[in-house]
Amino acid sequence: MDQKEKKLLNNLKIILKTKKEAITILNNYFKGGVGKSKLSSMFAYIADKFNLKVLMIDKDLQGTLTKDLAKTFKFNDPRKNFYEGLKNGNLTTSIVHLTENLDLIPATFDLMLLPKLTRSWTFENESKLLSELLKPIKKNYDLIIIDTVPTPSVYTNNAIVASDYVMIPLQAEEESTNNIQNYISYLLDLQEQFNPNLDMVGFVPYLVNTSSSTIKANLEELYSEHKEDNLVFKNIIKRSNRISTWSKNGITENKGYDKKVLSMYEKVFLEMIERIIHLEEEK
Ligand SMILES: Nc1ncnc2c1ncn2[C@@H]1O[C@H](COP(=O)(O)OP(=O)(O)OP(=O)(O)O)[C@@H](O)[C@H]1O
Ligand SMILES: [Mg+2]
Repeated sequence: MDQKEKKLLNNLKIILKTKKEAITILNNYFKGGVGKSKLSSMFAYIADKFNLKVLMIDKDLQGTLTKDLAKTFKFNDPRKNFYEGLKNGNLTTSIVHLTENLDLIPATFDLMLLPKLTRSWTFENESKLLSELLKPIKKNYDLIIIDTVPTPSVYTNNAIVASDYVMIPLQAEEESTNNIQNYISYLLDLQEQFNPNLDMVGFVPYLVNTSSSTIKANLEELYSEHKEDNLVFKNIIKRSNRISTWSKNGITENKGYDKKVLSMYEKVFLEMIERIIHLEEEK
């Protein structure tokens, strides 16, 4: 870690000290397969390395994040699964420890029952469920990072209402301004109703095919469209075979390209921290 990065993490610690509770970050967008869950699991690994106390929450019944973390870290099932925790109004027994710094609320297929549980509730109570249950837990962490599904649903509504910041990974070569605008409108609607403090950190471009020139042109277009709001991350994620290997065998740091790929995610993580610090200072 260089001086600038150390300073950044120090500044974050200072902000957290006054806040006295975790900053909650959501990785989400209404598009599947854009690397949201991978970003979440890499953030877990990196935050742990940087000695931040982190709670990861997997609110996707497919459990992509949970399965991915299980390749790198050892953990048992929680005493009560995530759905039971939500149902009983207590999430503490749904948390498992991965390392000294890193905790996880693993996904469970029972999350499938959530829409049924909340069917007769008001929209407000339903949307605020996760947020309310995180309140007593937030003081135990520096960051809470939520991963969820790419569709409008009780899962995403809960995650959006429980978050301070949204990170929006998108596939630069395929994305349209219209889709982005629709997603932002969705966020704004929930922000207005239930979570006035919600803010966007920005868009993280995910490039699947880095060689084609049209893709570079699309990325340039995305940057120029957001020149004024500065929402597009300078650091981007590129497709890498290392990631597929890590998905099978867990993250390593001493094989070919390990350092390069890890550093690609570290740069995005640190840019996120830098952007959050700016946003916090503006508050
Ligand atoms: N940088 C990368 N390089 C190579 N493969 C990647 C990279 N990031 C993600 N992948 C792979 O792409 C696939 C989709 O990624 P991921 O599950 O993170 O997407 P997602 O946005 O969470 O999808 P969903 O919306 O379905 O939850 C996975 O197989 C994942 O391992
Ligand atoms: Mg996912």
